[in-house]
Amino acid sequence: THKILLDMDPGIDDAAAISIALTDDQFDVKLLTTVAGNVSADKTRLNALKLVEFFGVQDKVPVATGAQMPLLKHYQDASHVHGASGMPGWDFAPVTTKPLTQHAVEAMRNVLMTSEEKLTVVATGAFTNLALMFRMYPETKTKIDRLVVMGGSLSGGNMSSVAEFNIYTDPHAAKIVFEAGLPLVMIGLDVTMKALLSHENIQKLSTLNESGAMLQALLGNYADDETEGKPMHDVNTLFYLAHPEYFELTDYWVDVVTEGPAMGGTIADILRTSHDGQANVSVATDIDVAAFNEWFMSEIARIK
Ligand code: BDR
Ligand code: CA
Repeated sequence: THKILLDMDPGIDDAAAISIALTDDQFDVKLLTTVAGNVSADKTRLNALKLVEFFGVQDKVPVATGAQMPLLKHYQDASHVHGASGMPGWDFAPVTTKPLTQHAVEAMRNVLMTSEEKLTVVATGAFTNLALMFRMYPETKTKIDRLVVMGGSLSGGNMSSVAEFNIYTDPHAAKIVFEAGLPLVMIGLDVTMKALLSHENIQKLSTLNESGAMLQALLGNYADDETEGKPMHDVNTLFYLAHPEYFELTDYWVDVVTEGPAMGGTIADILRTSHDGQANVSVATDIDVAAFNEWFMSEIARIK
């Protein structure tokens, strides 16, 4: 089992990732923290609570709400992609579960520092919570075995010609996280724009079970749409944990751009001309698209 902390901004593709993480025994989710990203911090927390209740794990997986704003940059949501609520199209039961009273940073610190083993952090939103934690409580790094993040791109952006949304939302936080000195796997647009969930499979989801119907309803409102299917960005972090053999990775030194027209860009030292041949990031550079589709459908089919 992968013992993990989830830090997210649900969000439709985050919701798909959460659906798998909360229901597959190979993932032992210790905490779900949320951050302002696709929609505001209030909404991402509410969406996280809706999902833990939908999957009936509210007594097992605590939710803590995190940063309401990026560290320095002006906050801009992605409601044009994920809808005003961040999870439109499904009528979730009214939420009764309360989030933790602790801020996400305190909650993550608590879980990490009291854990006997090191934990894996899966982050699929802006990196504000993690950056704050690394600045406030650097000792938490000793309790993290690796970070698996959805974010960045070496091959073009979705917010500008170079910037990917999670990095673009809070580039200063991303820089802190990328330079934290921890093993970091970057699952960026290079693979997530390739591993599209086919329209055929999206059509099949509602025939599987209620979870499939819920995800199909959300995906019907997801503006991230390509001819061959829809990118399930955040889900690829879990696919990587479950099946690294379906990925190609290359270690690079990656700098995060925090200013100017390339703000939010992730630049890899591809020719290894600087940084003394050091690397701070393992970048996913290729993925098996068919294997992703098959795995995703089988994961959803397994749920209630
Ligand atoms: C990333 O941005 C968000 O909109 C998605 O949830 C994903 O984490 C893709 O660039
Ligand atoms: Ca996300």
